[in-house]
Amino acid sequence: MKKVLVTGGAGYIGSHTCIELLGQGYEVVVVDNLSNSDPEALHRVEQISGKKLQFVELDIRSADALEQVFQAHDFFAVIHFAGLKAVGESVAQPLKYFDNNIHGSQVLLDVMQRHHVFNIVFSSSATVYGDPESVPIQESFPLTALNPYGRTKLVVEDMLRDLGASDSRWQAVLLRYFNPVGAHPCGLIGEDPSDIPNNLMPYISQVAVGRLASLSVFGGDYPTHDGTGVRDYIHVVDLAKGHLAALEHLQLEPGVVAYNLGTGNGYSVLDMVAAFAAVSGRDIPYQIVDRRAGDSAECYADPSLAKSKLGWEAELGLDAMTRDSWNWQSKNPGGYASPKP
Ligand code: NAD
Ligand code: UD1
Repeated sequence: MKKVLVTGGAGYIGSHTCIELLGQGYEVVVVDNLSNSDPEALHRVEQISGKKLQFVELDIRSADALEQVFQAHDFFAVIHFAGLKAVGESVAQPLKYFDNNIHGSQVLLDVMQRHHVFNIVFSSSATVYGDPESVPIQESFPLTALNPYGRTKLVVEDMLRDLGASDSRWQAVLLRYFNPVGAHPCGLIGEDPSDIPNNLMPYISQVAVGRLASLSVFGGDYPTHDGTGVRDYIHVVDLAKGHLAALEHLQLEPGVVAYNLGTGNGYSVLDMVAAFAAVSGRDIPYQIVDRRAGDSAECYADPSLAKSKLGWEAELGLDAMTRDSWNWQSKNPGGYASPKP
C-alpha cells in the first residue's frame, strides 16, 4: 500500500483530501502544527472514512521533527498543503509569510531529498496569475505576485522548477486552485476560519447562521453582468479528487508541471448570495461598499489541461457547493468548537 505524507492535513483542503486518499487505499501520515486547524477534523476524517491515519503534531520548519517522520516511514509522495493563507495578514507581516511558507517548504524539500522522496504535489493558487489580462486563465499566462502571500506561492513554484531542472528524479505537480468552497456532504468537516472570515463563502455562511450581521459586497461597479466580482468557485471535494489524479499523474509524466483546478464557470458575488439564500432559506443581508484593494473584476480558469492530462474535471455545481457549505455551517455553527452533530 502506498504511503503519502500530507503536510497541513488537518486544515480545510487537507482534511477533505485525506478522506479521498484513505478511500482509495493510500496510507496517510499527517503532519500539522495546528496553527489554523483543530485535531477534531482528523478524528472526523477517520470517522467518515472508517480508516485510521497517523498524525504527528509538528512544524514543517523543524528539520529534526520532520527527519524523525521520514526515518519512520517510507513515503511514495508528499502532498504539501501546510502554509499560511491570509492575504491581508501577509501584507502586514510579510516576514511571517516568508518564514512559514517559503522557509518551511525549503526545510521540507531538503528532508525529502535526503530521503530520496522526489514526488510532490504542491498547493499553489490562482493568485500566481496576478491580475490577468483576459479570462479564462490558462497555465501558460504570465506569473506575478500582487502581495506577499502570492509571492510565497510563486517562490515555492520556482523552487520546484529549479529542483526539477537540477535533478530529473524530482517530479512535482503544482495545483493552482481557484476558489475552494463547500464541505464534505456528510456535514462533519468543513472550513472553520479561526477569525472573522476574509473569504466570501465562509462570510456568507456565518451571516446566514447569525454569527455575523451582514455581508459587505466589495464593489458594485465592475464590468460584470451585475457589477460585482466574478470568481471560479470549486467544490472542495472536487478539489480533493484533483490531488488523487495528480498523484497518479506523478507516475506517468516526469517533470514539474502546473495545472489549474477550477470549474471554468464564473459566478458573481450576488450570484453566490442568491444561491446561498435559496438553499438555506435564510435572508443574507448585504450592502455594496467600495472595491477591496487588489481585487480583479473577473477570474476563472481554463481547466482543459487538467482534463486532458490528469483526466480530472470538476463534477459538482453551485447547488452542491452552497448546499454542502450550509449543511456544515448549520450543523456546526461554531465550527469544530460546536458539539459534534
Ligand atoms: P488551512 O489553513 O485550513 O490549512 C493549512 C494547514 O497547514 C493548517 O492546518 C495549518 O495548521 C497548517 N500549517 C500552517 N503552517 C504550518 C507549518 N509551518 N507547519 C505545519 N503545519 C502548518 O488552509 P487551506 O484552505 O486548507 O489551504 C491549504 C493550502 O492551499 C495552503 O497552502 C493555501 O495557501 C493553499 N490555497 C488555499 C486556497 C483557499 O482558498 N483555501 C486557495 C489557494 C491555495
Ligand atoms: C482571495 C485572495 C487570493 C487567495 C484566495 C484564496 C485577495 C485579494 N485574494 O481570492 O489571493 O488565493 O482568496 O484564499 O484577498 N467578497 C466580498 N465580500 C467579502 C469577501 C469577498 O464582496 O466579505 C468578494 C471579493 O471582492 C471577490 C469575491 O467575493 O469578488 C471572492 O473573494 P474571496 O473569497 O476573498 O476570494 P478572492 O478574492 O478571489
